[in-house]
Amino acid sequence: LPVPAIVDRMHRSQQSALAPARAQRKRLFMCAPDHFAVSYSINPWMDGQLGRASGSRAKAQWTALREILGRHATIETIDAVEGLPDMPFTANAGLLHDGRFVPSRFRHAERRGEEAHFIEWFRRHGVEIGRLPGRILFEGAGDALFDEAIALLWMGHGQRSEFAAAAGLARLLDVDTVPLRLVDPRFYHLDTCFCPLPRGVLLWYPAAFDEDSRALVESRIHSSQRIAVDEADALAFACNAISLGSAVVLHRASGRLKRQLDDAGFTVIETALNEFHKAGGSAKRLTLRME
Ligand code: ARG
Repeated sequence: LPVPAIVDRMHRSQQSALAPARAQRKRLFMCAPDHFAVSYSINPWMDGQLGRASGSRAKAQWTALREILGRHATIETIDAVEGLPDMPFTANAGLLHDGRFVPSRFRHAERRGEEAHFIEWFRRHGVEIGRLPGRILFEGAGDALFDEAIALLWMGHGQRSEFAAAAGLARLLDVDTVPLRLVDPRFYHLDTCFCPLPRGVLLWYPAAFDEDSRALVESRIHSSQRIAVDEADALAFACNAISLGSAVVLHRASGRLKRQLDDAGFTVIETALNEFHKAGGSAKRLTLRME
């Protein structure tokens, strides 16, 4: 890296009120499901679920998740807004990196109203806003996941985010980006089928990707480091996991998957999130990593 870029980045993170400084403790950004509902359908999970989600069950499940995460991380929250039922899925707010926030530009009109609220929250908390050029569709950390072992951003496209977002993010955040094409509408965000874990371990559902993308993943991550989940685990959103140190928090994993994760040195913490599955979301999407 040229020296000015490094200086610029240090300067930015020192300025930001939310920069983790020396702290090891992670920060997660969440939004309580105070106005959560399935009131439209923009993914296959929502079909047939209109009006079927229970607000009180969702709140209880979210509160339990927050409690678990609070043991490992600091939780920041934004107030829920009436009329924006998908706002609890803060993974889609944007992508945060080095004290800079790249806001999402949602594909569906139903979620575009969230954009201004998220931007305003980060602006108010002293975070620099860096926008992608033009009208590129990008759904934040739902489709953009940093590798935990190498300096690399994995980027999902083909369902919600556009291919062009990968190059835009690479330029804006000065990171290497690997675009992966998603081909199954049930796995419409990268975080539904791909989860980089510490020490370079990858949890993923290969069938959600086209052949070239699968090959790309296999060329970058050694087979001994890849844990491929089966369709049943994938449909239970096992890949939509939050990793905090050696803990992996998710809705549910089969005995086989738990053993595999255990062998890789991780401790699985299950917490029911099925009320959110009616909207097509699970553990990881209810959070946005802030470091
Ligand atoms: N109903 C929301 C949508 O379809 C769910 C978002 C899930 N978010 C995610 N990062 N996978 O947009």
